[in-house]
Order: sequence, then C-alpha cells, then structure tokens
Amino acid sequence: MKQEYRLISSTPKPFVKWAGGKRQLLPVITNHIPKFERYFEPFLGGGAVFFSLVSQDRYVKWSVSDLNSDLVLSYVTIRDRVKELISALELHSTNYFKNPSSYYYKIRESNPKGQIEKVSKLIFLNKTCFNGLYRVNSKGKFNVPLGKYVNPNIVNKENLLAVSETLQSKEISIKCQDFERALKNATSDDFVYLDPPYQPVSETANFTSYTDGSFGYDDQERLCAKFKALDRKGVKVLLSNSKSSEILELFDEFSDGIIEINANRFINSVSKKRTGHTELLIKNY
Ligand SMILES: C[S@@+](CC[C@H](N)C(=O)[O-])C[C@H]1O[C@@H](n2cnc3c(N)ncnc32)[C@H](O)[C@@H]1O
Repeated sequence: MKQEYRLISSTPKPFVKWAGGKRQLLPVITNHIPKFERYFEPFLGGGAVFFSLVSQDRYVKWSVSDLNSDLVLSYVTIRDRVKELISALELHSTNYFKNPSSYYYKIRESNPKGQIEKVSKLIFLNKTCFNGLYRVNSKGKFNVPLGKYVNPNIVNKENLLAVSETLQSKEISIKCQDFERALKNATSDDFVYLDPPYQPVSETANFTSYTDGSFGYDDQERLCAKFKALDRKGVKVLLSNSKSSEILELFDEFSDGIIEINANRFINSVSKKRTGHTELLIKNY
C-alpha cells in the first residue's frame, strides 16, 4: 500500500533525547531570550531551545551546529530524506518488537555506511537504549545497554515530518564544526545561546580532574574567551553551565548577569538518586 505523507504543521520538538537536553528548563531559559535578527546555537545537541524558538512566527536567520558528525547528519537527513528515514525506522520497529534484545544488540554492533542506515541506527538506539542517552566509549563505539521500555516510540512520524518541514522552510544553516568557528561571523543584533558540556562540579576541596570527556577545562577557558570577544562586538550571549567554582571565577565580570536555577539532573537510573541541583545561566545583556 502506498504511504501518504501529509505536510504536518505541528510544532517540531527534539527527535532524540540528548545528554544535557534543555526541555525541562525551557520555561526558565525562554524568559531570558532577547530580541534578535540572527540566532546562533553552536552546541546544538537535541536542540530543545532552537526548536522552541524556530517555531515562533518571525523572520530570523538561524545558524546551528554541533561537533558530533552523526548528530548533524541526522538533522540533514531529516531535512532532505525524511520519507526514506521513516521507512527505515518502521523496519527497525517491526524487527525490534519481534525480539527486542537480540535485535537491539545486532543493530548496536552493526557498522552501516549508508546515510539512511547510519541515521536510522542512531535514532533507533536512542529510542531503545538504557536512559535514552547517546554515549560512546574511547574508541567511538556506542556502548549503552538495552533500555527497559515496554513500548518505545521508535518512529515518531508526526514529529519527524514537522522537523523536516521546519528545516526546509526556514533560513537555517546546519553544520558540523567547533563552536569557535561557528561563531566567527556573529555581530551586533545577533543572539548566541551556548550550552556546552558542563564543567564538573567538584565534590571535595582537593578535586583535581578538570576533564569531562573531550570537553576539558581548557575548552571552558576557550569558551569564556569567545564569550568575552562576542561581548566586545555587541553580540547578546546567553550561556548555560554548572554552578562550579571554576565557572563562577571565569565569568566573574558578568556576575550581574548570573541567574541560578534549580534543576533535576537525570544521571542516575535509580529515581530516588535524581537529586535537585543548581545550575547557571550567564548573560551579558
Ligand atoms: C550539553 S549538550 C547540548 C544539549 C542541547 N542544548 C539539548 O537541549 O539537547 C553539548 C553538545 O556540545 C557538543 N560539543 C562538544 N564539544 C563541542 C565543540 N568543541 N564544539 C561544538 N560542539 C561541541 C556535543 O556534541 C553536545 O551535543
């Protein structure tokens, strides 16, 4: 039977769950968004803030990027080849429900080369893996075990179509690049939202490790230097980060623009260990 794809105008939302996703904090973050003509988000991830703003009806140019090439390929594929992607995900879904565990591990170990196969694998694993988080080991391999979902929604067709329609219909540039390169052309009247991997919060006074995966303290310093350079150019900048002594010190001169927010961080699978914590929004306007 021929599949019909209606153009759907529902609001697009993140199509993957992403570590550090901002969906829960949207009500707070959107309160601090200024007026702007161009929008830059160089640590895009699942894009919760981008999607909430892009669906508002106003004329703006959008420039979004991330260093994760598989993630960026997913955005581009949803924009350009959404019907093929939906078909591939429907096949994953059918096979998964026949035997979840064996199909999950078979796909996890596979190494597809084609664009549709690579992206449908990423979305399939994201919807079915433990905690729904994308995480690779030091060899770049996805190593998360099967999740405990009874009925995972592997193909959210309506949202994929809404994302595709939005990415096609607006002036949106999507690139795989480092944040510094992404922000090269930002000028006054532009707005930049920065949501980097967070600086770890030190638990003890003699905490010495400054690295969080591949985004270390040197990257936080590089980001702070970029924040200051953008500030000098008259760009409006909003940054999310942890409430850690290192970040408070780096952004000392913006202390008037620091907002503390209480958030729940879902890092531990045991729900009672999902404790509240404080994080920061830092703005220069
Ligand atoms: C905290 S997540 C962003 C979460 C996102 N705001 C959301 O709602 O899903 C940080 C992102 O930064 C990306 N990243 C890490 N290092 C980067 C770099 N040097 N330049 C650009 N992006 C980077 C990661 O791939 C990750 O997607």
